[in-house]
Amino acid sequence: MTKFPEGFVWGSATSSYQIEGAHNLDGKGPSIWDAFCTIPNRVANGDNGNIAIDHYHKYKEDVALIKSQGFSAYRFSISWPRIMPEGRGKVNEAGIQFYSDLIDELLANGITPWITLYHWDLPLALQSENDGWLNPSIADDFEAYAKVCFERFGDRVKHWITLNEPWVVSILGYGQGVFAPGRVSNSEPYQAAHNLILAHTKAYRLYQSEFSHQGGTVGITNNCDWREPLTDKQEDKDAAERALLFFLGWFADPVYFGDYPQVMKERLGERLPVFTEEEKELIKGSTDFFGLNHYTTMFAEDSHGKLVKGSVYGNGGLSEDQDVNLSQDSTWELTSMNWAVVPWGCRKLLEWIHNRYNGADIYITENGFACNDEIVDGKVEDPYRIKFYKSYLQACNEAIENGVNLKGYFAWSLFDNFEWASGYRPRFGLNFINYETLERIPKSSALWFKEVTSNNGWEVEKHEELV
Ligand code: GAL
Repeated sequence: MTKFPEGFVWGSATSSYQIEGAHNLDGKGPSIWDAFCTIPNRVANGDNGNIAIDHYHKYKEDVALIKSQGFSAYRFSISWPRIMPEGRGKVNEAGIQFYSDLIDELLANGITPWITLYHWDLPLALQSENDGWLNPSIADDFEAYAKVCFERFGDRVKHWITLNEPWVVSILGYGQGVFAPGRVSNSEPYQAAHNLILAHTKAYRLYQSEFSHQGGTVGITNNCDWREPLTDKQEDKDAAERALLFFLGWFADPVYFGDYPQVMKERLGERLPVFTEEEKELIKGSTDFFGLNHYTTMFAEDSHGKLVKGSVYGNGGLSEDQDVNLSQDSTWELTSMNWAVVPWGCRKLLEWIHNRYNGADIYITENGFACNDEIVDGKVEDPYRIKFYKSYLQACNEAIENGVNLKGYFAWSLFDNFEWASGYRPRFGLNFINYETLERIPKSSALWFKEVTSNNGWEVEKHEELV
């Protein structure tokens, strides 16, 4: 039996733009993703989140599914422009009502809400009038938005995540331009990241000073892949470490230690903004837990200034700044995102986080598998996804045995949904969506999860060799 510790949190996750639809209903303002999707050739197949899976109208049915699949926690995000259409100022009561009803429905069904405040759908007005995350004033706007959320939902919500994956916002949004707002630069990612960290800090400190009586926890979720040294050479070991610091340390070091990793300061010079001493004090310790989204692993190798172009995540700035070449092993299984399935990388990353960040309480807030599922005779069988989850959860279990304080796991995703620039083609869900009828069909992986959540683990068959 693979057993998890008593009290381990089992959840599934989604985000607002990816599932809600109702993009212009009931007073919602446009977001940068609404705008990005209208630009030709930015999103595969010209897809957009206008209707998505229409969770806005089907939330009761969706909560019933979560319950039937045994998850005790549900991570979702609030669309900032649904409750503040222009990003600041006026509050849209219809938007508040939607989230309030969703929260009540979850609680009535015994499901604990975990809310992400920002999962990339920035109010468009803040982008077009204010330069989005490049403008330092956004930290105040985010704080004001967080305040509305704490005030209106904090009586019932005790688990808050300020930002989802600021790395993606910075690199894909401001470095490579493949995500909204679609900017390409080798310096803007560092400025955006700086303001993201300050915005997170303001929201965290606000909760501490004005809302601590609500008794909740507030954290940040970062994403990171594992970086395995390609060879035993010290230079490749250093390259792998450097890659992790540029990826995860960029955001986690400030939050745990008050400042950016030394290696980033050395390599970036003036392109890396500087925190004041006062800011450092506020940033340090500004999270109650370590939220981690993890999907894959790559080999890392010192590039000696000769970057292999097209190496994954390679762009005009980031890869050159790190001086690291990334590669995959040709024997690794790939998902339909071309992400390699490497469960031991998950264990190693958890152990790395445990060691660097003083044994922090970790929650995996996303992990999952994309493929092109199909309905056959009204059913969706996805044994490959079950295998993926078993192998990654096994790796998590080993990390726990090795002393890592992993406290919970959220599967990405509860549903097939709008997968950003890839549109609706990659299917990450435990529940299949028929995009013509919007019918939800539980895949066999959802049924398997029911067994896991009710037994706090699963029976391992003898022949299974997973990690
Ligand atoms: C994460 C993101 C999710 C989801 C997932 C799969 O980066 O937070 O919204 O899209 O990746 O790509």
